[in-house]
Amino acid sequence: MAEQYPHYIEFRHVCKTFDKPVLVDCNFYVDAGQTVAIIGRSGVGKSVTLGHIMGFLKPDSGRVIVAHEDITDFDEAEMNRIRRKVTMVFQSGALFDSLTVAENILFSLEQREDFNEKNREDIVNGMLKMVGIEDARDKYPADLSTGYRRAIAIARAIAAEPQCILYDEPTTMVDPIMSEHLTSLMLMLKNDMKMTAVVVTHDLDLLHQVADSVVFLSDGKVAYFGPPEGLYKSEDPVIQEFLELDKVIRGHVGEKLHGDDNPFRSAGAGGLGVGRTKE
Ligand SMILES: Nc1ncnc2c1ncn2[C@@H]1O[C@H](COP(=O)(O)OP(=O)(O)OP(=O)(O)O)[C@@H](O)[C@H]1O
Ligand SMILES: [Mg+2]
Repeated sequence: MAEQYPHYIEFRHVCKTFDKPVLVDCNFYVDAGQTVAIIGRSGVGKSVTLGHIMGFLKPDSGRVIVAHEDITDFDEAEMNRIRRKVTMVFQSGALFDSLTVAENILFSLEQREDFNEKNREDIVNGMLKMVGIEDARDKYPADLSTGYRRAIAIARAIAAEPQCILYDEPTTMVDPIMSEHLTSLMLMLKNDMKMTAVVVTHDLDLLHQVADSVVFLSDGKVAYFGPPEGLYKSEDPVIQEFLELDKVIRGHVGEKLHGDDNPFRSAGAGGLGVGRTKE
């Protein structure tokens, strides 16, 4: 299978129209172990792209390759097999509000074929430690901040031992310290666990730390696909405007970086042992 489809994920001439064209002849790929960031203005089709990878959406034309298989015509049963390998961390966290944090992670563990009743507590505690949220073990998602909920969603996703994680805006609406923590976590999954990843983000700081390649969507098309550095050489006015806007936004965020209402400042963030590589 890998010979026929050498890329872990690949979009081949993918088109999707709702009331207007959203994806128009989209082409890009993600190699195993790599992280690709998808960026572009709001409403440009970033989440729709992830929806195609998960098989929640089907293209009108073109082919979608996931986990080295052509999933375009897969039914739900076949997609469920793929979804054991490729999992998604939703913007909201999409946790079960009636379950505690530990139970949410356990739920994902129980889906695993090799689920073992005996070591379940150890695995849940290990996951919580890995993402630096042991103190939230017995809390309910509704009582936690957005950043915590995302960290839990990541813990829950990795409990299922996927090969690939899709992140939809992991650092949006979280404070800068938590954002740094989530970035470290993504780096650890990439470097230590060799996880393949696709991350939709507005956060160029995150992009520079985790992405091997960037897909810039504009007017339904892939306006740029290549290494992050190349983005800055693009003469596309839409890309230039996007990068300019980011500079302005980042100026504001910089002012807030000294805020100190986040538990990870003293506890979790350093615990992952992965520092920022770029400032
Ligand atoms: N299930 C759907 N049915 C109809 N239209 C849809 C559906 N899903 C998305 N769209 C439309 O497709 C377009 C792209 O949506 P998408 O959610 O992918 O944008 P996005 O790039 O993720 O934006 P944001 O940055 O705001 O999250 C939007 O115009 C949206 O209204
Ligand atoms: Mg979106």
